[in-house]
Amino acid sequence: MTARLRVENLSKSFGPTQVLDRVSFDVQPGRFLVLLGPSGSGKTTLLRCLAGIERADSGRIRLGDLVLAQERTHLAPDRRDLAMVFQDYALWPHMTAAANVGYALRRRRPDRETSRLRVERVLERVGLGEHAEQYPHQLSGGQQQRVALARALVAEPGLLLFDEPLSNLDADLRERLRVEIATLTRESGATVVYITHDQAEAFALADEVGVLEGGRLVQLGAPRTSTTARPPRSWPGSPAWPGSWPGWSPPRAPPRHRAACAPAPARSPRSPTAPRPPVRRCGC
Ligand SMILES: Nc1ncnc2c1ncn2[C@@H]1O[C@H](COP(=O)(O)OP(=O)(O)O)[C@@H](O)[C@H]1O
Ligand SMILES: [Mg+2]
Repeated sequence: MTARLRVENLSKSFGPTQVLDRVSFDVQPGRFLVLLGPSGSGKTTLLRCLAGIERADSGRIRLGDLVLAQERTHLAPDRRDLAMVFQDYALWPHMTAAANVGYALRRRRPDRETSRLRVERVLERVGLGEHAEQYPHQLSGGQQQRVALARALVAEPGLLLFDEPLSNLDADLRERLRVEIATLTRESGATVVYITHDQAEAFALADEVGVLEGGRLVQLGAPRTSTTARPPRSWPGSPAWPGSWPGWSPPRAPPRHRAACAPAPARSPRSPTAPRPPVRRCGC
């Protein structure tokens, strides 16, 4: 059942390194929150704390009426009514696609026929109806991630967690799977927390975007409003940064950049074979 997620003052250190620093946010039932942050900002650690794989040092996590973590309380991952999709798929290599998906139903103990039907239906839904009996090594990366998505959806958990699920896929596939994730998660009605370092992915998927920097949540809001602020200084991003950050533009373009991108002069009629200077394309 879909539920509100509440995270309050979550902190976590590994030895002397503080990885999460009093992170607080709420996600309303059925909403899609994307947490955006550079590598090392604590995204995976935060998701692992939500999933119960990692134990936070302090703070509280609630899902609906259920306290998942608080002081000495630490609910085991399989008692949290959630499912997680990982960057590297994390499928059981010795199980077929259908068995991998069916494994997520083990706690519900449905009868064999109900389980078979649910697995069949969800594999059809992710476009893998024909591949149910294949093993992970017989599937492409995109197909394996679809199996992982089906496994996350099959038990209809209240909370879905995604840890950079598209990072290992090529651009074309990333785009298609992104659309499928958006469609299928909204259909399921689950509350979603999705982490990525990719701004385009974040803005394509999110109802709300949060920005993690150095273990702190430095921005949180609807994509449009949260981007009116300046992006974090340390943003890694694409070569086009910071111009690619929607809603924000630099005060002025550096003059050297403009000069380099001026159109090449027309070819002289007296030397038609003379090589043209290279035209740099930078999109500015
Ligand atoms: N089990 C661990 N032991 C020690 N340090 C860790 C552990 N897990 C993560 N870290 C450190 O915590 C920081 C944040 O890591 P992580 O949460 O994986 O960031 P992100 O997913 O944003 O790249 C990094 O500096 C990383 O080295
Ligand atoms: Mg990570």
